[in-house]
Amino acid sequence: MIEIIENIKKQFEAETEKVKSLSELEELRIKYLGRKGNISNAFSLISDVPAEQKPQFGKELNQLKQQAEAVYNKIEESFKTKSKSLMLDLTLPGRRSFTGSKHPLIQTAEEIKGIFSNLGFVIEDGPEIETDYYNFGALNFPENHPSRDMQDTLFISKDVVLRTHTSPVQIRVMEKQKPPIRMIAPGRVYRRDTPDASHSPFFHQIEGLVVSEGVTFADLKGVIESFAHIMFGKDINVRFRPSFFPFTEPSVEYDFSCVFCRGKGCKVCKGTGWVEISGAGMVHPNVFKSVGYDPKKYTGYAFGMGVDRIAMLKYNINDIRIFFENDVRFLNQF
Ligand code: PHE
Repeated sequence: MIEIIENIKKQFEAETEKVKSLSELEELRIKYLGRKGNISNAFSLISDVPAEQKPQFGKELNQLKQQAEAVYNKIEESFKTKSKSLMLDLTLPGRRSFTGSKHPLIQTAEEIKGIFSNLGFVIEDGPEIETDYYNFGALNFPENHPSRDMQDTLFISKDVVLRTHTSPVQIRVMEKQKPPIRMIAPGRVYRRDTPDASHSPFFHQIEGLVVSEGVTFADLKGVIESFAHIMFGKDINVRFRPSFFPFTEPSVEYDFSCVFCRGKGCKVCKGTGWVEISGAGMVHPNVFKSVGYDPKKYTGYAFGMGVDRIAMLKYNINDIRIFFENDVRFLNQF
């Protein structure tokens, strides 16, 4: 009786070799594993099997059934994966892959960094959460200076703030390095401002610092002018106006001639022909003292640069808030 099982097995194996399609596979399934198939029929023979062979017969028949099912599943699986690739419809439109792009602020910051790298500046970095000392004290802000109070600083605790400018990186770099220094430090800064078209509670600055023996205000003017010409074109003029910062003396604010009307006067520059970029000046001796540099030996200049403002000029954007809304209709254009 056991031979019956052997025969079914051999026959099944031989026939599986020949299966070429899903429909042939289905025929094979019905023939062997169907309700009236060979294997099911063999189970009904069990009553004719002599008692002493019954356990072995049952066991082997069960094994055969399991093996046949496994083989069936495997062949079915291989047909399905094959047919998937055969079902490729070359007339369908291709699947579009959406490539992202860099945020306009990142692109602008990279361009500015590239220009200063070419002018010999190295790139430095500092924390966005700063102590009062680095953000103010070491930068020669008097204890009761108005910019230190709750008006524009976001405090984390009494002595810890979200940095209001990138100037603290000047201190951090000078503390760990001796002159000569020629660096820029790009980064995000925070102020307690109500958002409008030209204000955001956070924005981006690039700090510049050059310290050596014999550095003069003429060097500062030269670098800012070179930057303006490379960034916006040779016909851009730069204007320096006297100003005040505790950490520079003398201090200036500098403007570029309007990149839209080229100085003639338009809506962007409010008819003045100039757009304000940021502040700059010669490093104050007290700043050198706080980092242990000899102010009699070294001089230096520092400047700020508003990345958001430069990006707005570059791309003709009139509202700073749009940079931070993550509207893809805006971002897709870059
Ligand atoms: N830190 C100043 C600001 O945020 C800009 C500045 C940088 C001024 C360096 C002078 C020197 O407005």
